Amino acid sequence: MNSVRKEVLAPDPAALRTVLGHFATGVAIITALDDDEPVGMACNSFTSVSLDPQLVLFCAAKSSTTWPRIQAARKWAANILAEDAEQTCRLFAEKGADRFAHIAYSAGRSGAPVLEAAIAFVDCETLAEHDAGDHVIVVGRVLELGYAPEGKPLLFYRGGYGRFEV
Ligand SMILES: Cc1cc2nc3c(=O)[nH]c(=O)nc-3n(C[C@H](O)[C@H](O)[C@H](O)COP(=O)(O)O)c2cc1C
Repeated sequence: MNSVRKEVLAPDPAALRTVLGHFATGVAIITALDDDEPVGMACNSFTSVSLDPQLVLFCAAKSSTTWPRIQAARKWAANILAEDAEQTCRLFAEKGADRFAHIAYSAGRSGAPVLEAAIAFVDCETLAEHDAGDHVIVVGRVLELGYAPEGKPLLFYRGGYGRFEV
């Protein structure tokens, strides 16, 4: 496909959301232990930053009620969801939900929950926080990580969920 006609939009929040929705991503549940209570939120802003040293990031909305708890914990895990974990993703995006009531997990090296519904995890401690508009860019130093060799990811694209096929 060489040339596709594109709609050009002025940059407002709705346009940015629509256009960025075309960047297909996985979904990570960012988890932490806040005073022994597990907390977590769905994020598709999770990405790699540096291989040496090993750094990753996610962007947290300043409006999130979970982010201040992850911020206070300073240790967190990014849990990359499996293709059949759409309901888990929705649960961790729903305001006021009892997110860990029926979720299986174990503790990562930092103590942050590593979800059974994850095909891979990256356990981190916060290295830096950068103010960025209505979000905070959270950079984590990797403490431990792991993956399921046969795992397949949940994908998020244009506001909907899908699976990866070669
Ligand atoms: C697919 C998907 C991706 C999301 N990505 C982010 C993200 O990168 N950063 C963020 O702050 N919120 C993101 N959210 C929203 C949060 O998961 C959710 O709205 C928020 O945690 C709501 O509850 P809280 O107040 O308990 O934090 C995403 C939601 C979904 C469904």
